[in-house]
Amino acid sequence: MGKMVLWSGAALGAMVLAASTAQAQEAPTAATIKAADARAAATVKAMKPEEKTILTHGIMPMDLGMGNVVIPKDAVPGAGYIAGIDRLGVPALKETDASLGVSYVMGLRKDGATALPSGVLQAATWNPEILYNGGAMIGGEARAKGFNVLLAGGVNLMRDPRNGRTFEYLSEDPLLSGMLVGAAIRGIQSNHIISTIKHFALNGQETGRKYVDIKISEAAAKESDLLAFKIGIEQGQPLSVMCAYNRVGGQNACSNDFLLNKVLKKDWGWKGFVMSDWGAVPGVEAAINGLDQQSGAELDKGLFFADKLADKAKADPKWAARLDNMNQRVLTAIYAAGIDKFPAKGGEKIDFAAHAKVAEETAKQGIVLLKNEGGVLPLMKTAKSIAVIGGYADGGVLSGGGSSQVQGEGGAVYSIPLSGTGVWAGLIGQNYHRSSPLKAITAQAPQAKVTYRDGRYITDAVEKAKQAEVAVVFVTQFTTEGLDVPDLHLPQGQDELIAAVAAANPNTIVVLETGGPVVMPWLPKVKAVVEAWYPGARGGEAIASVLFGDTNPSGRLPITFPASTDQLPRPKLDGSDWVEPNFAGDPTSGSDILHADYDIEGSDVGYRWFARKGQKALFPFGYGLSYTSFQSSGLSVKGLTATFTVKNTGQRDGDEVAQLYLTTRNGEVKQRLVGFARVSLKAGESKPVSLTIDPRLLADWKNGLWTSPKGTYSFALGKDAETLGEKVSITLPAKSWKE
Ligand code: BGC
Repeated sequence: MGKMVLWSGAALGAMVLAASTAQAQEAPTAATIKAADARAAATVKAMKPEEKTILTHGIMPMDLGMGNVVIPKDAVPGAGYIAGIDRLGVPALKETDASLGVSYVMGLRKDGATALPSGVLQAATWNPEILYNGGAMIGGEARAKGFNVLLAGGVNLMRDPRNGRTFEYLSEDPLLSGMLVGAAIRGIQSNHIISTIKHFALNGQETGRKYVDIKISEAAAKESDLLAFKIGIEQGQPLSVMCAYNRVGGQNACSNDFLLNKVLKKDWGWKGFVMSDWGAVPGVEAAINGLDQQSGAELDKGLFFADKLADKAKADPKWAARLDNMNQRVLTAIYAAGIDKFPAKGGEKIDFAAHAKVAEETAKQGIVLLKNEGGVLPLMKTAKSIAVIGGYADGGVLSGGGSSQVQGEGGAVYSIPLSGTGVWAGLIGQNYHRSSPLKAITAQAPQAKVTYRDGRYITDAVEKAKQAEVAVVFVTQFTTEGLDVPDLHLPQGQDELIAAVAAANPNTIVVLETGGPVVMPWLPKVKAVVEAWYPGARGGEAIASVLFGDTNPSGRLPITFPASTDQLPRPKLDGSDWVEPNFAGDPTSGSDILHADYDIEGSDVGYRWFARKGQKALFPFGYGLSYTSFQSSGLSVKGLTATFTVKNTGQRDGDEVAQLYLTTRNGEVKQRLVGFARVSLKAGESKPVSLTIDPRLLADWKNGLWTSPKGTYSFALGKDAETLGEKVSITLPAKSWKE
């Protein structure tokens, strides 16, 4: 992506971070990594044979009652621990989840952290700067708690809106996802800590997650999911890659010669280390296939990367060389991050009030206004009566479940178990952050009579809705790592609740707190819809700010909302009819076989699939309303540079997200987002925008090269992926080049 027009709130972010991250430095660059690599080689030479498997395996330093793990004294309870080598001054690795903040792990450490909004909300900002700020903030908290590795950087493309981890990821588009994850990683790694990028690769569903086998051609993978990783790596220089649970082309992603050795290390020349996902290592041969470190080894069927690996290295020079290279890579990451020279000591005080502002600003930029009939929003601060209904809005805002769950100090305001009593049951509870939309709404409209009903009984909710000028219905869709959703309807009768309230009150506004897309059978009956996703530590305040117009909504959908699952490449999610819900994702018998065919859509994920099929979405990728209006004009494309002007044609200040799409190539439909910029504009103001197009987005992957044919390339600015402006066509010569 080209020149960014800076977000007007950047100064706030910088101020907050300067106060909180005393250790902040320039994140590692390619040059830092090169220097670290040379230093790592010297350390490997100095290692004794018995030291060579210390850095290649780790444990989960928490007592889950799973047996014989000895937790070292210097470990910080969290996701992972890899012992250091004192003699050589190599520090232990202390790892915590994840992309949304320092995870709470069922209250294990009994300390809270600042919860950023969900990944999909972060992506809805289309603002790399805000992801950098969030990354710097959560990296600072990880460091303050004594961690030096953050298991962040979730960037799997959203190939299916039913994926239970949609909330953790960013988008369905490789450019948007790659640019944003790169910015977040840069922010995280500005704290002398290592960030991962994950889950490499094609980890598109949770159903049968440890054995689902993904079929996809090399070309389609390179033009989609792998491109998101590649752009993320270029932008963010993550020092670690976490490989995924699933299989690709019949091989476990964590023991996959093609993905790890060929693509990541050889073709891309990436110098960091590959850590496994927890419980994703099939055996010792994963080392030869490119895995450098076995994480949380007690979750695997064996401790493969200790004595077994040492024995192999003793017996075979090929294995000995590989073992040296594994050490070299882990050490490169340690030195490049500087975690030996700037150790994370832990026990530091965190300025939660300042960090909450980062979470709140993110939420304000990523909440998406989907419908606003008759300008019912923003609400008047002089409103007389408001009925707030449902969604636990009296107490807080929902967050997603699984290893990425973050809670503030004191834990959740409401914690509702899903079900189950196993080790992982505590990780998949429905938890609400202490940020009450009801209180925030009441504060915005001090003269109003604000009533609340929990929405369990429709008659009662309808009664209150009838008595108020406006009804605001909060609805939730809890999603979690480990479990996909079976369909896109709101659960537990909430669709019926909305329809009944809308029939009782003509000014019904729906606030969605969902993991990802949902269908909206009640849409024509309500006046306004606000997609608040999982809005994080200050979500209640951010929602109220949007509802009452202190914040002019500027989020844009980073994922297509389909009208129905029939429009998806796979109307039935593979395995959804026979795989029993199971957080770990283990097969019930060794013979469970599950395939997902990603060649159906190939690299045409999300809006590209919709364009190819000529389908109309419920709400398209890139869509989002504002309280003002914008016009983009004067598109000119010269070579790989596009210029145009964006104007705020309305009455309020606001931010527009300019989107540039390739629409056709030599007359064939080939829709691809090729550039974007968030532009802040005062009422009436215009600004010029210039974008540089990444040539990979115009090309195909063919016979080991990026290849773009000679011919006519047509581009258009889009309000969203379906609402495109006038086409501008240029002729480009044929070109092909290596990664
Ligand atoms: C998840 C990873 C996470 C790891 C450690 C796994 O279940 O897939 O994203 O980093 O656990 O908690």
